[in-house]
Amino acid sequence: MKNILVTGGCGFIGTNFIRYLLKESDFSGRIINVDKLTYAGNPENLFDVERDFPERYIFIKADICDRHDIKRIFDDYEIDTICHFAAESHVDRSIVRPDSFIQTNIVGTFNLLESAKSKQDQVQLFYHISTDEVFGSLGKDGVFTEETPYRPNSPYSASKAASDHLVRAYYKTYGLPVIISNCSNNYGPYQFPEKLIPLIILNAMEGKALPVYGDGRYVRDWLYVRDHCVAIWELIQNGERGSMYNIGGNNEVENINLVELICDTLDGFEKLKNNKSRRELITFVKDRPGHDRRYAIDFTKLKRELGWIPTESLETGIHKTIKWYLDNQEWVSRVRSGEYQSWIREHYDYADI
Ligand code: NAD
Ligand code: TYD
Repeated sequence: MKNILVTGGCGFIGTNFIRYLLKESDFSGRIINVDKLTYAGNPENLFDVERDFPERYIFIKADICDRHDIKRIFDDYEIDTICHFAAESHVDRSIVRPDSFIQTNIVGTFNLLESAKSKQDQVQLFYHISTDEVFGSLGKDGVFTEETPYRPNSPYSASKAASDHLVRAYYKTYGLPVIISNCSNNYGPYQFPEKLIPLIILNAMEGKALPVYGDGRYVRDWLYVRDHCVAIWELIQNGERGSMYNIGGNNEVENINLVELICDTLDGFEKLKNNKSRRELITFVKDRPGHDRRYAIDFTKLKRELGWIPTESLETGIHKTIKWYLDNQEWVSRVRSGEYQSWIREHYDYADI
């Protein structure tokens, strides 16, 4: 494996994956990171990587929906492995404006598959990162396995389900070597503060209201992002081609209890000025339409075949995540003010491929 094309590497999980691959794993090849730099993409996340690995890390600002650009990248960089993260990823945004979800998640994935198909002599793996949300919602009991039928409920999950089906079809029809993994909710460093955990951490740091949708009894299974990156790297190396794998965190919790855990952990780091418990900031707000009640992942297959298990408990993972946000307040303020976006405009407007 020499040239990995990572799409969406300036987003949350992609950033963590590139950092893991170059700084912690035994990977010795080159990473070509292709990212459109939407509001969720921040090249600043990887400035130190760019500086420390000039021969092994290349960044290209491009849209995966642009067939011409993607074809050129495959031609120019002898891509042998594709690790596809790029997506519109926030459920709330997909409810208000689904258009870009259809474009990027479905058409963008299709473009990548077409380019990979046209280079079948050199492509060893097309790895597609997907979500457990494609399986729909669970009641009180049960778990998602790799055999659970797809029943997506939001425009986001429907667009991810469509892309999963395309990836699978390219394996069945054209023999493209693929792997699809469906993971639960990730959290950790570099997550854009629109998703629950970073949003609650940042509001709680500032003593602002902590919005909890509906009755707060919705359940998610939280996966620390580094554990996810380790699983992806294991699967790239040893996963069965043509297979699907579930990746979960073993950390099922109701949203309200998670928000309380964040409040208490942050109170342990530093008290609010008025000395009140941050739990008093919790505010129940209007529910999300079509809100999935519960997700839970059975990752027995990944454990059995590759011996992978998550190492981080919710308590240790939340502690590390809060510490990261406390230690990186400049990053936070540039992301929140949108300052990183004016930087992107200045530096990339004329530097596109
Ligand atoms: P993110 O929103 O933080 O990052 C997405 C990245 O993709 C950004 O850098 C963005 O600029 C880039 N991008 C968007 N449209 C693009 C386009 N047309 N061309 C090129 N780049 C584009 O997302 P994330 O949380 O890092 O998620 C990564 C992947 O993991 C997604 O496919 C998502 O569906 C999946 N996933 C995420 C979670 C989670 O909890 N975050 C859980 C399960 C699955
Ligand atoms: P989110 O981080 O948006 O991930 P997803 O919708 O993909 O699971 O939301 C996680 C859970 O938290 C979900 O049940 C919705 C809920 N939520 C809130 O209660 N308040 C919020 O402000 C947000 C963003 C989410």
